[in-house]
Amino acid sequence: MVNVLIVYGTRYGAAESTAKDIADVLQDDGFHVKAVDAKAEKLGDIADYQLIIVGSGIQNHKWTEESEKFLKRFSEKLREKKLALFVCCGDAHPLTEKEEEKTKIVQEARRKYLEEKAAKYGLNPVAMGLFGGIYNFNKMPWWSRKFMQPLKKQLEAEGFKEAKSGIYDTRDLQAIRNWTKELVRK
Ligand SMILES: Cc1cc2nc3c(=O)[nH]c(=O)nc-3n(C[C@H](O)[C@H](O)[C@H](O)COP(=O)(O)O)c2cc1C
Repeated sequence: MVNVLIVYGTRYGAAESTAKDIADVLQDDGFHVKAVDAKAEKLGDIADYQLIIVGSGIQNHKWTEESEKFLKRFSEKLREKKLALFVCCGDAHPLTEKEEEKTKIVQEARRKYLEEKAAKYGLNPVAMGLFGGIYNFNKMPWWSRKFMQPLKKQLEAEGFKEAKSGIYDTRDLQAIRNWTKELVRK
């Protein structure tokens, strides 16, 4: 039995929901999975896990403090494991009609949020997933709500519907499942 540990940090729920989607695919494939909210539970050891997946939501270009701390604390041990990273962020689905601009933003996000993070801790992940995010206007800090208001129109123009009042989810569940299946093959 392969034991998988998923550690995530979230502010608005996208990384948590993504961790659960990844866990569902892995469990269906016969893996034993433990998903941990890095803020709620501090792990003492990771020796029992053969595959470790670490994910975070992005706010103001930053991972959550707790998931980054996990990378830092276990960086040496993570180098000896099969490791995958993922982030949930707005830049995975840029709200612009210009295709060239879209590609540039996505490439930049992958570089900044994933490749640079792996390099910072000397990690060599077998997979790095860049997934969409959740815009929860009910939960945003007051300083960003007003600034983010025009985003609603842009999200709707891009075909994203309000899932619940004030909540838009730009994640592509199929892309998350495909990424996880590809990870299993690796
Ligand atoms: C105040 C604020 C700042 C954000 N900053 C960024 C950012 O710098 N880059 C980005 O790609 N997405 C940004 N986003 C979108 C978030 O990445 C998105 O809400 C994501 O779901 C966050 O992950 P979480 O839901 O797991 O917390 C921001 C969202 C908010 C509300």
